[in-house]
Amino acid sequence: MTAGAPEVVRPQASGRAREAPGGGPGAERDGVAQDCVLVLDFGSQYAQLIARRVREARVYCELVPGTISAEEVRRRAPRGLIFSGGPASVYEPDAPHPDPGVYALGLPILGICYGMQLLAHDLDGRVAPATRREYGAAQVEIDDPAGLFEGLPAETAVWMSHGDVITELPSGFRSIAHSLNSPCAAFAGPGGRFGIQFHPEVVHTPAGKQMLANFLTRVCGCGQDWEPSSFIQRAVADIRSRVGAGQVICALSGGVDSAVAATLVHRAVGDQLTCVFVDNGLLRRDEGERVVDVMSRQRHIKLVRVDAGDRFLSALAGVIDPEEKRRRIGRTFIEVFEAEARRLGEIDFLAQGTLYPDVIESTSRETPSARTIKTHHNVGGLPEDLRFQLVEPLRYLFKDEVRRVGLELGLPEDMVWRQPFPGPGLAIRVIGEVSRARLEVLRAADWIVIDEIKRSGLYRKVWQSFAILTPVSSVGVMGDGRTYANVVAIRIVESDDAMTADWARVPYDVLAAISRRIVNEVPGINRVVYDISSKPPSTIEWE
Ligand code: XMP
Repeated sequence: MTAGAPEVVRPQASGRAREAPGGGPGAERDGVAQDCVLVLDFGSQYAQLIARRVREARVYCELVPGTISAEEVRRRAPRGLIFSGGPASVYEPDAPHPDPGVYALGLPILGICYGMQLLAHDLDGRVAPATRREYGAAQVEIDDPAGLFEGLPAETAVWMSHGDVITELPSGFRSIAHSLNSPCAAFAGPGGRFGIQFHPEVVHTPAGKQMLANFLTRVCGCGQDWEPSSFIQRAVADIRSRVGAGQVICALSGGVDSAVAATLVHRAVGDQLTCVFVDNGLLRRDEGERVVDVMSRQRHIKLVRVDAGDRFLSALAGVIDPEEKRRRIGRTFIEVFEAEARRLGEIDFLAQGTLYPDVIESTSRETPSARTIKTHHNVGGLPEDLRFQLVEPLRYLFKDEVRRVGLELGLPEDMVWRQPFPGPGLAIRVIGEVSRARLEVLRAADWIVIDEIKRSGLYRKVWQSFAILTPVSSVGVMGDGRTYANVVAIRIVESDDAMTADWARVPYDVLAAISRRIVNEVPGINRVVYDISSKPPSTIEWE
């Protein structure tokens, strides 16, 4: 097929899969569950992690600014509140405090670290600088398990990080745990108010999950009913009422987020959705085919595949700077997508697989109402007359929840569990200039890495595993001949969120199999090296 020529992949059956309208109570919350807890963010690096832990306990929660108005809290009708930690000291003049009206709502509150100090300070206790900062692992002895600590051993390991201590409890409050350096490591007060000086959300507090679950269920009375199936029903109803008879377009990337978003929208409005898959020629082996197979042939979603590989390659000709590669790929994507959108005629909505962490990122920065569109799908760059209203059915979900929704929707496991793959694709893994030939070499090596990692059962355990084609040539010997060919690097990392990462301690046998196969099966490669750098200071990708 010629570059840029759109191939319309025809679904084999009409795709309108209407269901009985779902929704009901809670539907007003953009398609989420009934019981909700709000996490008030006072600037903690762990605020998002608290929200994730709450969701893992199968209770729906949202992360909101610590200074949210009491009126807004009331409108959202949560069953309880969690105050996050934060870098400030509560007695400083500019320290963030909750709206005093929040206390008057009478909701259960769990204050974590700075959040605990807020409770103490705002409810007329006293907080002062500690004579000794407490940072790192500590043992806490539980003096009163009722509520927060039920079912826990009398002594438990926790993660401390604070420079202030509570010197006087608010009236009606009592200390319920202590540590060597904190006579009051946790307190309880009337109305289900608890404070803990340590961080239950981090892995270094192994009983933290249980503590959070206790607060959510025993103190707030939340049901643990946050399930993908209930989400799907409500999300479908929500999309339907939003879209009405409108037309929706969705760019598929091959990744799980856009696939799940498209599948949900398709469930809601059937053939009103058209998916556009821009094949940029920078994907891994068979990936493009797989998208078409799953979304169009299996799921009967209207799909336009644009084979734009040549166009991307010419945009990349002569470019070696990684950021310039990204810019050109982004620009070319927009041009191709824009042409396709215009060709499709009247389109009202753009469906995107934006996830909750992206929403939090973009709303917590200095422009609270700004909504960032994912960079590699940067349709924000589309011309004025091509602006669409956004449909973002996953904007309240974390990645693990999207995967559960994907499985519930019947998407195949290999798509749902696909490791993260960068928007610019293999172009930033061919170090130096990108050419068709070099892409082919990398694609072959990458296929072997994935194959061996899957075979060894590590695929889901590691964050990413891939090959990098370096421009370095080295001498080798094959049979009786001398070779002078390229070096391939293997990068396999463990990570929770890609912010930090460590190289995976993959068994030598697995590395040996990868190396042997690449050198034997991929022409142009005679040496394989393993990247043993962590992030920071290195990044996950080489470019
Ligand atoms: P780094 O290399 O910054 O990567 O440690 C962190 C994570 O982001 C992915 N990544 C990208 N994803 N567009 C994307 O969509 C990009 O330009 C891009 N660069 C890096 C990378 O694969 C890793 O998961």
